This record gives sequence, structure tokens and C-alpha cells, in this order.
Amino acid sequence: MAIRNIVQISDDVLRKKSSEVKEFNEKLIELLDDMKDTLFACPNGAGLAAPQVGVLKRVFLVYVDNVLYEFINPKIVKEKGTQVGDEGCLSVKGKYGKVKRFMTVDVIAKNRYGEPFRIKASGFLARAIQHENDHLDGILFVDRATDLVEEDN
Ligand code: CO
Repeated sequence: MAIRNIVQISDDVLRKKSSEVKEFNEKLIELLDDMKDTLFACPNGAGLAAPQVGVLKRVFLVYVDNVLYEFINPKIVKEKGTQVGDEGCLSVKGKYGKVKRFMTVDVIAKNRYGEPFRIKASGFLARAIQHENDHLDGILFVDRATDLVEEDN
């Protein structure tokens, strides 16, 4: 277990498309555990995708309402309604913006052992899933955001 470095927006790795996980092995478990440590080390972090730690694999975590969800090879299979809300990103420090997302999404994915599951998510959980899923295709929230604001530090 270790905290990995979170790459920032200038890094090209964030713009690449991630590939599917084919082997559910020790290396994947290590990646997931490290991603958890890395996410939990960030106050207000609601999610982290593997490309953010420089690994181009279709893997992300979301942490919403004190529950940690792990998604491997996720696919959004159903989308319903819309919501507009504020987003930020651990790879885009100090910037926030309003992003339009689906209100509800159904996702199929695999867990760390390669077992399939399906989840229906709404509201902020659905937002976090859509944000993280975008990372797997090289899309950042700033691409979708309106009213982008920079925090003064
Ligand atoms: Co992000």
C-alpha cells in the first residue's frame, strides 16, 4: 500500500484512452489498494481514476457517502434525466465548474476479483461515476464545464 503521485492536467497521460483490464491479478489488487490510499489522502476527493496515477487501465474508484466503490471495465448501459452541479478534479487543482450530467446511470462493471456487478446510481454518486468514467476516455470535466472558476489561493 502506497500513496501514488496524482498527475496534473498538463500531463498527456490524462488525454489517452485506457485499455480494458484482462488479468485480475496481484498487480491489479496493488493498484486498487494504492489508489484507495491516494484518494483517502486527499481531503474532499470523491473519486480517482487509474490514468490519474499514470496507469492507462479502465479502473476507477468513487467514494460517496462514506462508501468506496471499485469499478473495473465499467460500462454505462442506461442513462436517465439530467442534473447540473459543481465539479472539481484532483488532476485540475483549484478549478471548479458547473457540469451537466445524467441524473441516473446504470453501470455494469467487474470487482477486483473479476466478478461482474450492476449498480444503479443517482445524484452525486451518478455524477462521480460519470466524471471518473470520462477519465478512462481521456475526457476531463473542464471539457464539459460551464462557468469555470479559479479558486484564489
Ligand atoms: Co477527475
